[in-house]
Amino acid sequence: MKINGTPYRTIWPGNDGQSVVIIDQTQLPHRFETVTLRSVEDAAHAILTMQVRGAPLIGATAAYGLALALRADASDQGLANAIAFLAKQRPTAVNLRWALEETRRTVASLAPGARADAAFAKARAIAEDDVETCRRIGAHGLSLIRTLSEKKKGQPVNILTHCNAGWLACVDWGTATSPIYQAHDAGIPVHVWVDETRPRYQGASLTAFELMSHGVPHTLIVDNAGGHYMQHGKVDLCIVGTDRVTANGDVANKIGTYLKALAAHDTGVPFYVALPYSTIDWSLASGTEIPIEERSADEVLKMHGRLPDGTVATVDIAAAGTPAANPAFDVTPARLVTGFITERGISPADRTGLLSLYPEQRETAA
Ligand code: MRU
Repeated sequence: MKINGTPYRTIWPGNDGQSVVIIDQTQLPHRFETVTLRSVEDAAHAILTMQVRGAPLIGATAAYGLALALRADASDQGLANAIAFLAKQRPTAVNLRWALEETRRTVASLAPGARADAAFAKARAIAEDDVETCRRIGAHGLSLIRTLSEKKKGQPVNILTHCNAGWLACVDWGTATSPIYQAHDAGIPVHVWVDETRPRYQGASLTAFELMSHGVPHTLIVDNAGGHYMQHGKVDLCIVGTDRVTANGDVANKIGTYLKALAAHDTGVPFYVALPYSTIDWSLASGTEIPIEERSADEVLKMHGRLPDGTVATVDIAAAGTPAANPAFDVTPARLVTGFITERGISPADRTGLLSLYPEQRETAA
């Protein structure tokens, strides 16, 4: 997608063939900066500090990180250590584990001397695959928006989204935003309610920035406003992303997603989850088994933003010494989800629906 008219992806190989370049998302929307990753430590740091974030992008970065690790030590022990090191950086998005396992499978049987190049090629393939997968998710989701638009006789379709499941969370297109971009590009009038998404404001700082850069009409709202707009007929459809879907269709996503799903259920607003195949954890039977990342209390106790003089600063919003808790994700039970939008099509949000799209998982699904 474009920033100031220039097409970007969120991650790309460096010209020297020895490094990887990312957009530093901790600086957006106030500054556009790129960072070059030259080692597995750089990649791990980028994931941990959320210079890169969003399940698919975490996976792609981890794959490149493993390739960087193998440049330094391609032994069996080096491979195992790098996988363990990268995997522990963020626990909830299963794409991290998935991308590491895919890359391990590609390189493990090779001679150590051939592993780094093969891992780089695999990381590039994972990134390319994510672009095409997200494009397909958008093509399927577009049909939902088109139907609503026809029902509304061309009045804008109002879509609510939470956090950032946009192109910045993937390599391009996004998952939840891909149907929105494709509808907008097809001339279907859409308007997006963007949840700010406390405490890190991925909605305010990333989703609003993306939509503005692409010219998609949108309005930023506080996290607590979504239910109100749903009650008043101002939301036609919710589409969110996910960090892990279990075999029964339960959905882990950014904290607050569950409350939006409850409000949507109560008000009869369709609630869809957009996801690539790499976000399904077939080994878990239900969402109660998903590890939920607990992040620093500072993210709750402080706010980060631009001051009138242009400097970016962090300020305290609670009395010194206030205890705070910060679970980064919650689990929305499958019964609250209208359907999944995947690269293979749209399915009901349950085990049967998922297996109808991925029949090859019948033997492995928990
Ligand atoms: O903590 P983050 O910013 O990595 O969380 C991101 C989300 O929760 C996204 O909705 C999810 O990863 C889906 S991204 C297509």
